This record gives sequence, C-alpha cells and structure tokens, in this order.
Amino acid sequence: MHVENGNTIKTRFLRVSEENFDSILDETAAIIRSGGTVAFPTETVYGLGADGLNPTAVRKIFEAKRRPPGNPLSLLVHSSEDLEKVARNIPEKAFRLMDAFWPGPLTIVLEKNDTVPGITSGNLQSIGVRMPDHIIPLELIKRSGTPLAAPSANLSGKPSPSLAAHVVADLAGRIDAIIDGGEAAIGLESTVIDMTVKPPVVLRPGAVGIEELEKVIGKVRSGYKNDNVGTDAAPLEKQAGQKYGHYTPYTKVVLVEGESKFVSKQIAKLLENYMSREEKVGLLLSEEIADLFDAKGLGADECFLLGSQEEPEVAARKLFEGLRNLDSKRLDVIIADGSFSLSGIGDALINRLREASSIRFAI
Ligand code: TXA
Ligand code: MG
Repeated sequence: MHVENGNTIKTRFLRVSEENFDSILDETAAIIRSGGTVAFPTETVYGLGADGLNPTAVRKIFEAKRRPPGNPLSLLVHSSEDLEKVARNIPEKAFRLMDAFWPGPLTIVLEKNDTVPGITSGNLQSIGVRMPDHIIPLELIKRSGTPLAAPSANLSGKPSPSLAAHVVADLAGRIDAIIDGGEAAIGLESTVIDMTVKPPVVLRPGAVGIEELEKVIGKVRSGYKNDNVGTDAAPLEKQAGQKYGHYTPYTKVVLVEGESKFVSKQIAKLLENYMSREEKVGLLLSEEIADLFDAKGLGADECFLLGSQEEPEVAARKLFEGLRNLDSKRLDVIIADGSFSLSGIGDALINRLREASSIRFAI
C-alpha cells in the first residue's frame, strides 16, 4: 500500500491517561522502531515523528504530509548522547542556548553528522535539533532509542496542529498512530536559530524571543521580517517568505494590523465591502476589537475570539484552532485582527498571522 494514492493506512488513535501511558508509549515506540510514523503532542504543536536516522521511515513523513522534498526536517532529541549522534563541531554558544532553553521551544541549527541521512536534512550539511519540554515525546524518543525526525503534524501548507483533532483532520489514514495528549501549551512552533553562521540568525520567531536569546549569547540577527512598513491603510505586499510556504488556510485571509481604533474601523469597512458583494465573512478577533463593534449585528457569518490583546500567549495558543475553525466554515474571506501586543510571543503571533494572510493592511 502506498499513501500517496489516498488515505489507506489504518491509523491507531490513542488517548493518553495515567493508566495507559506506559502501554501506549511502548506500543508507539515499537511502531517507530519498525520504521512507522506516529503523531504526538509537544509543548509547541503536535509533531509527526519517525526514526530520523532511517531514510525509509523519513520518506513516509514526506509522503504523509505531502511535504516538498528538500524542505529540511528537524530532529527531536532526549539527551546529550542523542545530540552528539546527530551534530558535530557544536559551538560553545549553542551549548549555552541549550543550558538556558532546553528542554523547550528552541530549535538549534547545527553542523550535521554523517549518521543523519540526506533526506532528513533536505541534503543540507546542517540539521535543526530540539529537546522538547513534554513527557510524551521525551519518553517516545527514549523508548525508541533514536532521535525523531518530527515536523509539525499537518498537511504541508496547512496551519500546524495544536489539538489531536487537527492531526486527525489532516493525517488520519496516512500515518500509523496518533497520540492524543490534549492541547499544546504554546500553540505556535519553536523559535529556530541557525548557529552555523556568525552572527547567529533567527529563522523563525517563536516563544523564545530575540531579546532572551541575546541575553545568553549576545548579538543575533533576525532572518524574518516583522517590522511595519507603510503608514496608511493601503494593503501591503505579502512579505518575502521562507523558501517553502506555511500556514495557508484554504480561505483567503485579510490581516489588519495597528492600533485598536484603526483596526476596528478598517475591519468594519472591509466587512461592509465584502457583504455588499454577498461574500461570506468570518472574523478572527481579539476581545477588545470584538467589544468595539457588534460583528453579528454588522452581518459577519462567523466570529472566533482569540482573547485579550494584552495576553498574546493566549492568542498564540488559540490561533491555529481559530484559523482551522473558520477555514472549515465555507467562507469567502477571513478578516483577522492584528492589534495584538508585540511583546513576548506577540512577535511570533503576528509573524504567523502574516504568513496566513494574502492581503495586509497596516497603519
Ligand atoms: O515546534 C516545532 O519546531 C515543531 C514541533 C513538532 O517540534 N516542529 C516543526 O517542524 O515546526 P517543521 O518541520 O514544521 O519546522 C521546522 C523548521 C522549518 O521551517 C525548516 O525549514 C527549518 O525548521 N529547518 C530545519 N532544519 C533546518 C536547517 N538545517 N537549516 C535551516 N532551516 C531548517
Ligand atoms: Mg510545519
């Protein structure tokens, strides 16, 4: 059987409890050892794991996700022995980052060892490595006895999964097992920092912010754009993305960034425009913006609330759920509120909103 022709694999769905933890981890570790694929929660988002040192197993990840070949996978490790198996010439500053942020939401790109097959690293000489802060992947790696190649457990191009239900929607019938361990605590993917260059470059923002990184290793460069350009309400061009696209819902997303007053006015105006064309509109809003106008009263078809502007960590946890929820409602357009504070994880939140959107308005 070959997954590329459709959903043909029987996927085991395993909901973890205190009683069955041990048997589920043994069962899924056996799947990994035999070259299979298992999705599991981490503290960032759900991952789709396979033996990262086994090219046949890794190929199954690419097939299941329909991920373009060449897009590098990162590896999840459990111990410093795992780390030394997969990376070499590790700079002193990288060890400092590990001491400060591991286990946790930081992927560190390092020079790779020859044990890591080319298919895993996208034929690069480097490899992203992370030690997750979650008992399920840590136990799974330990019991499988191998580092896991583990991209986010979504179909390529879809928002990352923060709930097991999202993995089921994308990958049921395409992978061997799904472990349901509840909602991912952070909800956005890890920060990625490339330590093979000087100064180090942050390739993807996440829960570990640039200031926090700089406190530990000094100057780092931002390899993504989160600065606002433009001062009027004209739509901005989509930022030059990474080589491979991310986070694109099926439905068109229009993002409005700026101060509350501008954002609420602009959203109300857009809503009116789309409705006059009889288009179905969904709104993805902070509580503050939702309070400024009556979305249903104005005729929006759907509204998903991300929580308060002042709590970007709550909005981060709910973002992918909100995008997936609205995306399932057969809307013509989703208008997203980008008025969130840029502090803490807010930078990563705005980055993901920009990636999801095809049109942006900013003040
Ligand atoms: O939080 C996370 O990182 C989640 C959980 C499951 O661990 N995983 C995840 O994996 O988001 P993925 O494959 O969806 O994203 C990994 C990112 C990609 O943007 C990839 O291009 C980049 O890291 N990456 C991996 N290895 C790289 C390398 N050697 N050089 C540059 N970028 C790399
Ligand atoms: Mg991903």
